[in-house]
Amino acid sequence: MISNKPVSQDEYDQRRQRLVAQLPDNSVVVIPAATVSYRNNDADYAFRQNSDFFYLTGFPEPDAWLVLTPGHDKGDSHLFVLPKDRAQEIWTGFRVGTQQAVDHYGMAQAYELDQLEQVMPTLLDQREHLFYPMSGDNDLSQQINTWCQGLRQKARAGHLAPEQQHNLLPLLHEMRLKKSEQELAIMARAAEISSEAHCKAMQVCQPGMMEYQLEAEFIYHFMRSGSRAAAYNTIVGGGANACVLHYVENNQPLQAGDLVLIDAGCELHSYAADITRTFPVNGRFSEEQAILYQLVLDAQLAAIAQVKPGLDCHAPHRAAVRVLTEGLLDLGLLSGSLDKQIESEGYRQFYMHGTGHWLGLDVHDAGRYKIDGQSRPLEPGMVTTIEPGLYIAPDDDSVDARWRGIGIRIEDNVVVTETGHHVLTDGVPKTISDIEQLMAG
Ligand code: GLY
Ligand code: MN
Ligand code: MN
Repeated sequence: MISNKPVSQDEYDQRRQRLVAQLPDNSVVVIPAATVSYRNNDADYAFRQNSDFFYLTGFPEPDAWLVLTPGHDKGDSHLFVLPKDRAQEIWTGFRVGTQQAVDHYGMAQAYELDQLEQVMPTLLDQREHLFYPMSGDNDLSQQINTWCQGLRQKARAGHLAPEQQHNLLPLLHEMRLKKSEQELAIMARAAEISSEAHCKAMQVCQPGMMEYQLEAEFIYHFMRSGSRAAAYNTIVGGGANACVLHYVENNQPLQAGDLVLIDAGCELHSYAADITRTFPVNGRFSEEQAILYQLVLDAQLAAIAQVKPGLDCHAPHRAAVRVLTEGLLDLGLLSGSLDKQIESEGYRQFYMHGTGHWLGLDVHDAGRYKIDGQSRPLEPGMVTTIEPGLYIAPDDDSVDARWRGIGIRIEDNVVVTETGHHVLTDGVPKTISDIEQLMAG
């Protein structure tokens, strides 16, 4: 059955129109869908559409190709799709097919995939500029060049290959960076589902549980709530595992007296939420945990306060670094002067990642952070995470033993609005008292 598109057909049509309106005259755009990846013999990973392709089409199937040819006498949008095939559909399920690609996905023309080699050169012919995603995929570059070379070889018959090749991604990613109302509504719901799951995890957490048993709460709540999967590998790190930034084994028992760091968000209609909370396994912060936690929370609130239009996108990071460094100096975890520690990035011993990233179809979403070497200004419709942390390695004997093995991150999803910001993920508590209260039942 045809699946629902996340946003209206109008919005997809407008995205394609807005994209081609930015291109030089006589351009063609080529963008392939994702392919199925295999996990091991005959067992595939759940298919996830390429975000750029999906943004322009809403088309959910693998192996397709989108070609945009503004002003072409055969129409300006073309989709190559897997053919309707009863025998294949018995094995791998419903295929949209060419008729529905036109009727339901707003394409001017649709073709079966086996026509690609024959039809693609006719769409490239006589075009001067060719835009495609230059993301380091050598197979795609080779494929494009093979089509262009074929046209060059037929030059005497009047064929003309596009000789100017350009990367499509900078243009497309600028569009993806600023979210529409429809996108923001989906992201708000993804954030809400994910926040509920974090609350649930705080409520059910008990010493002795395995980390993956907390992960199970997320999978269960995501799927019950209409999300098909997590947006990225869930991190559940008890104790010092929280200091491993990309810890995903999640296979250790949770100990009373430790904190647990959970970084988990659902994917809803292909849009990600990305939330981290850190809380005590037994429901009560120890003195050291509370001191470091409050410092990270102060840094996070200071960073969120810097999310407003006109401020630059690295302002939240600078604010977080200042609060964290000040606190680390006060606690004796760093020494020297505040400005020198900030300048020399001494804080990186305990805070070694950035404070945020764009969020959208990809968890680390598309869009540049700098323009002409300068941090870009925040603009309404952008969505960023704000996620400072502190990670005191368990074997860091440069610090007093009482701090070692504590890892904390607090991460929220924040929309830039006309007047400031809106936190999408405030449904899950983050003050010490609110967390302890929720965990106490
Ligand atoms: N969950 C990935 C990140 O926080 O960037
Ligand atoms: Mn993040
Ligand atoms: Mn995260």
